[in-house]
Amino acid sequence: MAFTTHTPKHLVPPLVLVLQLTLLLIGTSSAQLSVSFYSKTCPKLLSIVRSGVQSAIAKEARIGASLLRLHFHDCFVNGCDGSILLDDTATFRGEQTAPPNNRSVRGFDVIKAIKSNVEKACPGVVSCADILTLTARDSVDILGGPSWEVKLGRRDSKTASFSAASSGVIPPPTSTLSNLINRFNAVGLSAKDMVALSGAHTIGLARCVTFRNRIYNESNIDVSFAKLRQRSCPRSGGDDNLAPLDVATPKLFDNNYYKNLLNNKGLLHSDQVLHNGGSTDSLVKQYSQNDKTFDTDFVTAMIKMGDIRPLTGSQGEIRKVCSKPN
Ligand code: HEM
Ligand SMILES: *[C@@H]1O[C@H](CO)[C@@H](O)[C@H](O)[C@H]1NC(C)=O
Ligand SMILES: *[C@@H]1O[C@H](CO)[C@@H](O)[C@H](O)[C@H]1NC(C)=O
Repeated sequence: MAFTTHTPKHLVPPLVLVLQLTLLLIGTSSAQLSVSFYSKTCPKLLSIVRSGVQSAIAKEARIGASLLRLHFHDCFVNGCDGSILLDDTATFRGEQTAPPNNRSVRGFDVIKAIKSNVEKACPGVVSCADILTLTARDSVDILGGPSWEVKLGRRDSKTASFSAASSGVIPPPTSTLSNLINRFNAVGLSAKDMVALSGAHTIGLARCVTFRNRIYNESNIDVSFAKLRQRSCPRSGGDDNLAPLDVATPKLFDNNYYKNLLNNKGLLHSDQVLHNGGSTDSLVKQYSQNDKTFDTDFVTAMIKMGDIRPLTGSQGEIRKVCSKPN
């Protein structure tokens, strides 16, 4: 709409109108995001976020992984709108206790601290959804991965949806390859984006309950790797015991995740399906051999993920604190 109002209707050729209508139908609200969104209203934003992520990672490297995952789980449920940051209350059940998140999402304290510093510098201006997006970028960068410019201008939701977060839009670790592809397609991401974004599992940890069946029951797994993981993940009990998603360099954002997959050392079932004789094998092999290609495709896919159905303009609000609506 914004981009048609400048041109008098009678001058617009029909084909252009059709194209614009098509774009509107598939959603162009992300077109309103821009890297310079806060450059006048909060010039220190990027440095405040960066130093907050830096000091959190200095205390605990894993927090970078946790922040990256928070952004993913935010964007896949009704778009990148900060909904995952809303705490449950006596009368409201948000997304944090939905099965994909329960007992595993973390990083809220870091977001809280950064938001409070941002509010001091520029009160009421910067959304929690944008802060979360920036922390994901900074985490990847600080842990040795690529960097990129983040488009900003998302606004915060006034609510969150336990049922949407529980509905399977965030695929479970038991997913087949086709389910993974379908779930990413459903939010406008390609199979290639899915394979590249899964490379996020080059950092961070997973709980025993998410990979137990794989290390005891699956045959496409390296035997010594399975035994290693069984040591801290018993057949029963120890559900919350942790293991690194990347067996070799879990604190470094590199392409080792894909090398693991070539060696049947994917930790999750949903990791190993990316290289198990299916349509994505060749891409996994390519990323395992070429870190630059992985970085490029990861950045492209992160930007696309950050574009999923943002609230813009007068939609939603700018929360004062990220854990509750104003
Ligand atoms: C392709 C589908 C995906 C599945 C099935 C999946 C599944 C999982 C599971 C089960 C865990 C462990 C959670 C737990 O311990 O309960 C995990 C952790 C993680 N995931 Fe994914 N994930 C997927 C895609 C992604 C994407 C797209 C990103 C980010 C771009 C991502 C980033 C992470 C990170 C960084 C961790 C470690 C978090 C931490 O240590 O706190 N994942 N994922
Ligand atoms: C979330 O985990 C708690 C234990 O911390 C458990 O009691 C609860 O049933 C879980 N909720 C869901 C929806 O799985
Ligand atoms: C292995 O598979 C069997 C049959 O599906 C199942 O009953 C059992 O719980 C699985 N074992 C583990 C450790 O997940």
